[in-house]
Amino acid sequence: MKKIGVAVLVSGGGTNLQAIIDAGKAGKLPSCELRAVISSRPDAYALERAAKAGIGSYTVSRKDCPSQEEFERRIAAVIDGAGAEIVVLAGFMCILSADFTRKYSGRIINVHPSLIPSFCGKGFYGLKVHEAALGYGVKVTGATVHFVNEIPDGGRIIMQKAVAVRKNDTPEILQKRVMKQAEWKILPASLELVCSELLEREEKENG
Ligand code: GAR
Repeated sequence: MKKIGVAVLVSGGGTNLQAIIDAGKAGKLPSCELRAVISSRPDAYALERAAKAGIGSYTVSRKDCPSQEEFERRIAAVIDGAGAEIVVLAGFMCILSADFTRKYSGRIINVHPSLIPSFCGKGFYGLKVHEAALGYGVKVTGATVHFVNEIPDGGRIIMQKAVAVRKNDTPEILQKRVMKQAEWKILPASLELVCSELLEREEKENG
């Protein structure tokens, strides 16, 4: 049975990468095969998670590249070299150009820690998202998995899950709850959905 090769791009702790690894081990990703983890930072803990799981891991740092073009060329070389057809942004904190998102159109998915279209777009990442949600006073927040296009957090939504805000939440406490109750669930589920649909499409095209 063919599986879809997947590359995961990370920059930090990699708890979402871990959720994908764990879902795979639990047999919940029958259409996917993790082929590569690419980190934008050499010290990202996500790299250790990848090593422990026996997945090939690579660092491509923006500051080691003379241009954005070269940065993306190196990332694409790893993705394509690993035979990955789907790319997951799991806490990847670098901007990708329209050229890059076009090259992998319909094949890049991202997890964002709010209910898009709230608290998303340029400047909204990591803890800042939860600070903004608490600052606004929303009573419900959550996470979104969406396709990536040239508009930051603007691609078609695949899955969302709501999470209640509690009275004494800090951004850190809320971030943890959103991860646990939403991100770690909908990211692996969306990945399997996207890969299974791609498999089906490929099977149809190949007769
Ligand atoms: C996650 O909360 C993810 O949704 C967020 O960064 C965190 C990464 O955690 N991503 C963004 O804000 C992207 N706009 P992780 O490294 O433990 O998966």
